[in-house]
Amino acid sequence: MDKLRIWGGCALEGEVPISGAKNSALPLLAACLLTEEPVTLHRIPQVRDIRTMQELLRLTGAEVHVDGAGAVRVCAARIARPEAPYELVKTMRASSLVLGPLAARTGKARVSLPGGCAIGARPVNLHIAALEQLGARVGQSHGYIEAAAPGGLRGALIHFDRITVTGTEDIMMAAALARGETVIENAAREPEVADLAELLNKMGARIEGAGTSTIRIQGVERLGGATHTIIPDRIEAGTFAIAAAITGGDLTLTGCIPEHLNALIVKLRQAGVEVTVPAEGSLRVRRAGALRAVDVTTEEYPGFATDLQAQFMALMTQADGIALITETIFENRFMHALELNRMGANIRVEGRQAIVAGPRTLTGAQVIASDLRASASLVLAGLVARGETVVDRVYHLDRGYERIEQKLVQAGARIRRES
Ligand code: EPZ
Repeated sequence: MDKLRIWGGCALEGEVPISGAKNSALPLLAACLLTEEPVTLHRIPQVRDIRTMQELLRLTGAEVHVDGAGAVRVCAARIARPEAPYELVKTMRASSLVLGPLAARTGKARVSLPGGCAIGARPVNLHIAALEQLGARVGQSHGYIEAAAPGGLRGALIHFDRITVTGTEDIMMAAALARGETVIENAAREPEVADLAELLNKMGARIEGAGTSTIRIQGVERLGGATHTIIPDRIEAGTFAIAAAITGGDLTLTGCIPEHLNALIVKLRQAGVEVTVPAEGSLRVRRAGALRAVDVTTEEYPGFATDLQAQFMALMTQADGIALITETIFENRFMHALELNRMGANIRVEGRQAIVAGPRTLTGAQVIASDLRASASLVLAGLVARGETVVDRVYHLDRGYERIEQKLVQAGARIRRES
């Protein structure tokens, strides 16, 4: 089990190239199941979750070719086994993204229930209810979701009780091949949803309104192949922006889309961090003076991303004052607070709220990562802590960050991976 050893105290400087978005690559890879023609996706980050999804596609019978430069070519000419087995789904709940495509393409799907993960129960009841509204019969047995739509799916009016990112994506993919029109209300507005719609429309789908709360899909008989470059990872970009702020450094992120980070940019500026857009597709983050404590509440996009909450909490341990952090999306996403306190932070967790009192000098310690973004938070804390921090179980980190320690070393961090 790999660990990262970090010697704190270096201000990060220079340029960091941002990789393709993991949370765009996952639904877009699932969308390849909707056509028997080849689909080529560029800028796919080679991280663990992507390798899991590629394995899942192979298990259904699709051919998946990965070149070394981030291009992945999927050809689902024949789907021999419309299934997502427990062994894979238990490691990545986003596997539920194949439920809609398999049901729409083959008329049946057998997908393991994801079960929970460190940050919460992660139910898929909204995916299932919406798929039933599209005409599928969905049962659950032996830990599996079993969907059947022998006569195909038909369009419907879908209204999600609460905003769900992969629920919106799952149903948009299923509806693309349904007979008639589907309207999704209370849809997720994340940029990854819009990126998926762009690929589907290139494949011949007829989707309007993706990226807004109401999406209209006119179903078509069949979809064809396409080539598409996915959007950059706004969460990776946000993580490195916070890395510049927490180390008092000066980083320029390249190949990103600054407007995907507006909620974070506003908060960083309020905290006293200088954030500028020096050129198209790049973001410069510099912090010279003291940090001010700033309150944050996570919300669905375009609100402050829950996937940046843990990283921002690490930053607030260095800020002057009391920062109130409220997590509204997941029920158990403060595990990193306990580890940060072991490094000397002063964080009190009360239900959905964490109260961070700063500034506090952090000291290096042995810490354990519990989930993908919590591990990023601990790395950030290690970059500013006095002495040596060892972050254990970095396989969590490898799920969603491509070559993170190489990128950090390039920017001047003293960090080493140890097996
Ligand atoms: C996506 O997860 C992301 N994953 C998550 O990123 C992200 O944290 C999350 O959206 C919120 O932005 C991918 O895109 C692959 P949701 P998802 O469905 O779709 C409840 C990361 O770190 N809910 O929007 O699973 C759910 O429990 C990961 O990269 C139901 O109740 O999240 C949660 O409280 C972590 N029933 C809320 O909705 C359902 O059927 C939002 O979940 C579905 C969701």
